[in-house]
Amino acid sequence: MAKMWAGRFKKEVDEKVNDFNSSISFDCVMYEQDIKGSIAHATMLGKQGIIPLEESELIVEGLMGILEDLHSGKLDFDMTAEDIHMFIEAELTARLGAAGKRLHTARSRNDQVALDIRMYLKDQTKEITALVKELCETLCDLASEHTETVMPGYTHLQRAQPVTFAHHLMAYVQMFLRDIGRLEDTYKRMNIMPLGSGALASTTYPIDRVMVSELLGFTEPTQNSLDGVSDRDFCIELASAIATLMMHLSRFSEEIILWCSWEFKFIELDDAYSTGSSIMPQKKNPDITELIRGKTGRTIGNLTTLLTMMKGLPLAYNKDMQEDKEAIFDSVNTAKLCISTFIPMLRTMRVLKDNMRKAAAKGFINATDCADYLVKKGMPFRDAYKITGGLVAYCIDQDKTLETLSLEEYQKASELFSEDVFTAISLDTCVKGRNVLGGPAPQMVKEQITIAREWLDEVK
Ligand code: ARG
Repeated sequence: MAKMWAGRFKKEVDEKVNDFNSSISFDCVMYEQDIKGSIAHATMLGKQGIIPLEESELIVEGLMGILEDLHSGKLDFDMTAEDIHMFIEAELTARLGAAGKRLHTARSRNDQVALDIRMYLKDQTKEITALVKELCETLCDLASEHTETVMPGYTHLQRAQPVTFAHHLMAYVQMFLRDIGRLEDTYKRMNIMPLGSGALASTTYPIDRVMVSELLGFTEPTQNSLDGVSDRDFCIELASAIATLMMHLSRFSEEIILWCSWEFKFIELDDAYSTGSSIMPQKKNPDITELIRGKTGRTIGNLTTLLTMMKGLPLAYNKDMQEDKEAIFDSVNTAKLCISTFIPMLRTMRVLKDNMRKAAAKGFINATDCADYLVKKGMPFRDAYKITGGLVAYCIDQDKTLETLSLEEYQKASELFSEDVFTAISLDTCVKGRNVLGGPAPQMVKEQITIAREWLDEVK
């Protein structure tokens, strides 16, 4: 494609350099935003009398025609174009002649691209937020079925104290709710309109930036033209919010992988969401969750790419910044793909309640409660801790559990033990007793779910 900037050059650009320089293969996804931005710009140029009103109307019509033809597939991208901005302007000029050549008045590709990415990422941020919201709703639904499903809670991956499956799921809801908060916050700073910054020093034409900002649904125009074209904080913030979100999804995936193993067997994934082995007939593998765990690395890498790409750049625009798109688009696509696969996988998985309960019944998960029993009978906690530790050691030695010890054995350790110790250390008592705000007692988790659902209703 002929170069728009051909004026001061005596030679054609080398073909390899052309390919090297070109970004259309990845920035073509922003065609809709580019066209809508140009429509707002042309409308403003016409209204301000910077270009004749009739020509501005012709431009708007021409751009809508291009948008329609790209949507319908009647028009294809020209992969030899330098970028999506050049492609659309050239196509407009080919269709309209002279009027098309007026579109780029009082504008530079530097503020144009800054506008397009913001518009594109605003839409993507909304889509990701909606998916995380759906994920939280799915988890709340699942949790409300399992407020009485006792499972071991772990520290150091060692059985620690009993919780419920609902409580465990709701911990992830808290993480994802914070992710929604980060996405919403990122959106606010993304929603500022840079067009009118020009190449770097704005323009001498009497443009109306507030009008363009309003036409395109932004909060307000950016305040400094140098910053307007050279800011990519919104890409970095979004990449960071996505990396954190993916880190949460990866931790969840890791647990699902563990829970699917024969060693845990707490859940079984639906056949539609698992894969087999080409050699081992018995295998049913949680590939989805492994891939999510793996893909999290890319999103962390993309954040590093963006920070590294920006850290040495003098003001204002530098071509290095063209590298922003592949990194942030990859993060966005990865997050959407992972969450939208994860949700139906959760919805269809089978929860093996009995196995969870059996695992909670072993491993001295009620030892803290046994010590607390003595404390409630008047013993100082440290003494109670020591006596219970002795009982655990005795059980391990005798191949018993705290539930299977006889009252005589208990009373040998302390005279404060009586028959009610067995209720005090039963799994259900242990869980129900933790009925403080934030605890796993069924009533408390039901309240957690109600509050989470109220928060989710606020998410737009
Ligand atoms: N394709 C370029 C980018 O993505 C558009 C801006 C080009 N500006 C320039 N002065 N070469 O950053």
